[in-house]
Amino acid sequence: MTKNKIKILSEDLCNKIAAGEVVDRPASIVKELLENAIDAGSDEITVILKNGGKTLIQVVDNGTGMSREDAILAIQRHTTSKISTYDDLHNIKTLGFRGEALASIAAVSRMELKTIPHKQTSGTLLKIEGIVLEDISDVGGTRGTSVSVKNLFYNTPARRKFLKSDETEYRYILNVLQRFTLAYFQVSFMLYHNDQKIFEFKPNEPNLRLVEVLGSSLS
Ligand SMILES: Nc1ncnc2c1ncn2[C@@H]1O[C@H](COP(=O)(O)OP(=O)(O)OP(=O)(O)O)[C@@H](O)[C@H]1O
Ligand SMILES: [Mg+2]
Repeated sequence: MTKNKIKILSEDLCNKIAAGEVVDRPASIVKELLENAIDAGSDEITVILKNGGKTLIQVVDNGTGMSREDAILAIQRHTTSKISTYDDLHNIKTLGFRGEALASIAAVSRMELKTIPHKQTSGTLLKIEGIVLEDISDVGGTRGTSVSVKNLFYNTPARRKFLKSDETEYRYILNVLQRFTLAYFQVSFMLYHNDQKIFEFKPNEPNLRLVEVLGSSLS
């Protein structure tokens, strides 16, 4: 009798492998969360980092927010509001569409997603640990979404080992922020790193935003 060599991988392992394709370092998480904030129509986005994003990445926006049902769906794999048919693939107007980012980030971190939809003063706080939804609670505040990503790669030590110094990871994030601040000059951006305010750009004319960004820590 021959012993099979081929095995079906566990869901947990599949999630971590898939996550590796979307999330390779803190900067890729910042990129995905900024894309989501822009797709949600935000015009005010705050990014909060600790240790070059290794211990905390938080992106707070004032976009559409999500209902509780949508938020619970959003953190699962292949769930998106941006496409639904094959034809939609030929007419994409959003930055994301794969329905992968939040699930991938959740698979390799401790994530909290707080979201309050339009015209409501209360919403939902989800706590997710390595894709497991640990807690759902009510939360107050103003419209928008805040995603915080703590202890990146806590459950994938091999990936954690490949991260560079805090300073280098921070530089990669600044590079991502530079592109977003230049492309979305009508959006206000704020950055905090290790409890220090690094910059605040108000909506501006494209040429004035360019001058501001290139004359700042982002250059
Ligand atoms: N900041 C946000 N504000 C409002 N809705 C959001 C926000 N972030 C995510 N969502 C919702 O959650 C869904 C899933 O987000 P996710 O980033 O995982 O996938 P996506 O943006 O659709 O595609 P991609 O994987 O290419 O980024 C989105 O389609 C959107 O409906
Ligand atoms: Mg996305």
